[in-house]
Amino acid sequence: MSAVLPLGASLYDRVRRVIPPIEWPTFLDDIEAILALKRERNAVILAHNYQTPEIFHCVADIVGDSLALARQAMSTEADVIVLAGVHFMAETAKLLNPQKTVLIPDLRAGCSLADSITAEDVRLMRQRIPNVPIVTYVNTSAAVKAESDICCTSGNARAVVESLGVPRVIMLPDEYLAKNVAAETDVEILAWKGHCEVHERFAAADVRELRQAHPGLVVLAHPECPPEVVAEADFSGSTAAMSDYVERQKPPRVVLLTECSMSDNVAVKHPEVEFIRPCNLCPHMKRITLANIRAALEENRHVVTIEPEIAQRARLAVERMLAV
Ligand code: 13P
Ligand code: SF4
Repeated sequence: MSAVLPLGASLYDRVRRVIPPIEWPTFLDDIEAILALKRERNAVILAHNYQTPEIFHCVADIVGDSLALARQAMSTEADVIVLAGVHFMAETAKLLNPQKTVLIPDLRAGCSLADSITAEDVRLMRQRIPNVPIVTYVNTSAAVKAESDICCTSGNARAVVESLGVPRVIMLPDEYLAKNVAAETDVEILAWKGHCEVHERFAAADVRELRQAHPGLVVLAHPECPPEVVAEADFSGSTAAMSDYVERQKPPRVVLLTECSMSDNVAVKHPEVEFIRPCNLCPHMKRITLANIRAALEENRHVVTIEPEIAQRARLAVERMLAV
């Protein structure tokens, strides 16, 4: 890539293992515009681990899993936060930064888990099963969080459940996450029936076939995968925990049973590790592009707002989680 500009050349070094040289020039104009707009607007870009490498490695200021993004959103000094991720992540950033402008580049970046449950469902659940704390996954709307006692992410679900000191909790809305946590704790967990459309597609038979085809393979699975998949895996954890596992253990051959961009983003830092890549795309995460991040900063869109009464109660549930 000797033809690219000096800025582009140094940035390209970060992603050359996963972005072909022929594609790179198509990103440069937007990347340069975004870097300038961030300075002009005192903005930061928070990007989830499932964002594509040109976003994750070339324009993001803070990257990580849902828990890290929530924590970092709390401590930023910026005036504007652009959330390169899905809508519930932008709402969480707004809950923790009511005075700041939070932008989501595409309002259609939703989540099948968030869509699986409403605030009314949670109220009914509380009526039917009273006096049992409700632990709500962050992959939900602010209105659902507002009806909950405490939130959790895949990175702290077990710790949150056990922090409550009760024998029984309700955990919403991801049935598989709830069952995977139940397998690790003595606390009884009552689950909802929501699923992640990306992780529910992995099957235990896939893991066995992969192991046969790739001897010595280390299998990492996100806890949104069905329990029989997690049972076949060598390790299960949040997207950040999977990334840390590769960093620490440097397995010679690994597969990450999760969204496709995750392997790309981890692979660029580990040329010594062979990544086997049967992955599933999250169509919601893929709504975010360099072009709409640029438009978000240029046109101040789409501003995330949350009704104050809902925000106040939802914030409590998120803050309780962050205190665990
Ligand atoms: P993490 O919190 O593990 O990053 O997961 C978020 C998510 O949406 C997984 O599908
Ligand atoms: Fe939601 Fe699944 Fe996409 Fe994560 S990967 S945002 S849980 S649909």
